[in-house]
Amino acid sequence: MLTKQSNVGTAEQTYYIIDFDSTFTKVEALDVLGEISLVGRPDRDDVLDQIKTITDRGMSGEISFTESLNLRLNLLKAHRDQLPALIENLMGSISDSFRRNKQFLTEHAEYIYVVSNGFKEFIIPIVTSLGIRAENVFANTFVFDETGAIVSFDPENPLSANGGKSQVIRNLNLDGEVYVIGDGYTDYEIRASGLANRFYAFTENVMRPRVVEKADHVAPSLDEFLYHNNLSRSQSYPKSRIKVLLLENVHPIAVQLFEQEGFNVEIRKGALDEDELIEAIRDVSILGIRSKTNVTARVLEHANKLMTVGAFCIGTNQIDLDACTKKGIAVFNAPYSNTRSVVELAVGEIIMLIRSIVPKSNSMHNGGWDKSAKNSFEVRGKKLGLVGYGNIGTQLSVVAEALGMEVYFYDIVDKLALGNARKCKSLDELLAVADIISLHTDGRKENKNLISYREFSLMKNGVIFLNLSRGHIVEIPALVDAIERGKVAGAGVDVFPQEPKTNNEEFVSALRNLPNVILTPHIGGSTEEAQENIGNFVPGKLLEYINNGSTYGSVNFPELQLPLLKGAHRLLHIHANVPGILAQMNSIFAKYHINIHGQYLKTNEQIGYVITDVAKEYADEVVQELKGIDNTIKFRLLY
Ligand SMILES: NC(=O)c1ccc[n+]([C@@H]2O[C@H](COP(=O)([O-])OP(=O)(O)OC[C@H]3O[C@@H](n4cnc5c(N)ncnc54)[C@H](O)[C@@H]3O)[C@@H](O)[C@H]2O)c1
Repeated sequence: MLTKQSNVGTAEQTYYIIDFDSTFTKVEALDVLGEISLVGRPDRDDVLDQIKTITDRGMSGEISFTESLNLRLNLLKAHRDQLPALIENLMGSISDSFRRNKQFLTEHAEYIYVVSNGFKEFIIPIVTSLGIRAENVFANTFVFDETGAIVSFDPENPLSANGGKSQVIRNLNLDGEVYVIGDGYTDYEIRASGLANRFYAFTENVMRPRVVEKADHVAPSLDEFLYHNNLSRSQSYPKSRIKVLLLENVHPIAVQLFEQEGFNVEIRKGALDEDELIEAIRDVSILGIRSKTNVTARVLEHANKLMTVGAFCIGTNQIDLDACTKKGIAVFNAPYSNTRSVVELAVGEIIMLIRSIVPKSNSMHNGGWDKSAKNSFEVRGKKLGLVGYGNIGTQLSVVAEALGMEVYFYDIVDKLALGNARKCKSLDELLAVADIISLHTDGRKENKNLISYREFSLMKNGVIFLNLSRGHIVEIPALVDAIERGKVAGAGVDVFPQEPKTNNEEFVSALRNLPNVILTPHIGGSTEEAQENIGNFVPGKLLEYINNGSTYGSVNFPELQLPLLKGAHRLLHIHANVPGILAQMNSIFAKYHINIHGQYLKTNEQIGYVITDVAKEYADEVVQELKGIDNTIKFRLLY
């Protein structure tokens, strides 16, 4: 059966010794207590720094542990009344992998000891909430004075002195294997004094090189510890073993999101060329890039662990999508994250252009002063014509109406009009009616020169014209001609048929130095907010795929939005889209009497994606047989 083994009840019993501060919880409890007890004191930050320094001096052996504890408690000036606030804070700071693995902690409670130099008053409420027994907690106890102030600790307790943890384990006289999990040197000392068989350096919250160096094994999470010991755990495969490679300076929020999930994240500032990427990608499961890294078929030949690629941008031309699909690699991008940024720029430009601000501003820079209302108009009541009514077009429609404009739109697809916007039956109809025309079509090749001499001739005289979509949609000589003839009274152009590849290259265009023309270097969607949105959006998609199997929004995979996995195992099967695969899978399920909770299938031209949720217990052979079906590309198991 696939249910994981447990060594409870075997002849050789295993005992688990777990540290508290920075292991069971993400924080050091006395630091948190200090933050509470010193509230309102002007020297709070100074005192907190002193406490941290004393903690470090104690840990490095510069002063004795007992002395460091005494000094810290004196500085803390804490009170019994502050303990509930501390406990509440610690409850919210339980390490993620401990919280996830409550089942393991509860089921093995008899053999788990929490041994800490902290204090029982706050440790017991926290660890018992995850099933650990209060009598298995070994820690110090506070001494309070008659007013309830914390004045000292029980000096008889071995944990108030150096070597205390080893002393406690020795007294326990455990008969069996002893494994210690902790982040500190004092945890390693148990192993050093021969009282433990293994020491696992726990690095989910802090990584102390001196401790890691001494460890038998490094455990970036409790899942890793459980995986290493083949014990039941919340993750089928510890996320710390899944490598994420993020290139091209993706937004820090993305790094944080992957790290929070417990993945092993590597970041590189720049793009990698093909050979560098081949070298870097071998053990990578999740790749994040922007527009400058090319994920070619040759790179993919070496990407044997790669499950998904996130393009932290809009376009995916830099990725060989076909080759990704054939290898069962799902690709995601961020198509809407900068919609609002483009809309705001368009609105700003429309107002600047219709007021003829650009020539006025330019003239003033040369000493001019042209104070007049001539050729300056309000946008209120003007007719805005949107060509393309997709994400950007519709959002601009809404914002423009809020400014009092009348919105007309034309789209090749029948789109629902938002607000009071009016649909035009043809492009020609729209061109003839609008005072301001803004292009928001996609860049398909049929749209090349969509707007040329004929189209400009259909527009009203003195029209305001914007292109913030794609460069090749407008024939530039036709636009230049229309501006020079006064047909177009003002233009805003952000995208060009030929754009410089780097900031060092010259921008060459016939649009330079024309009156009332705003030129911007393809920055319609470039704002800090859009970058942050992308940094949030793309990891969200990748994590949904990794954690749940959902492919909604993928640019190359059949799209499936799946329910959250609960009380079942999820088998994900990606295969070449040939007839009969689902039937073969289901005959395997039938042969082994598998209880199916749910099954989902979607295909595209190249691949099929089948998700089957099954009851947790089934024969190991099922997985082997599913993997063995001809034309299987990838198989994954989630639980
Ligand atoms: N300047 C920038 O920095 C920047 C940033 C983001 C997006 N963009 C560009 O803006 C454009 C619009 O983006 P979006 O997210 O709204 O795209 P979208 O795909 O949501 O919308 C495009 C719409 O154009 C319509 N369309 C296509 N061809 C048409 C035609 N010939 N006539 C009328 N309608 C047509 C489509 O049916 C669709 O509704 C894209 O070209 C995109 O590349 C530019």
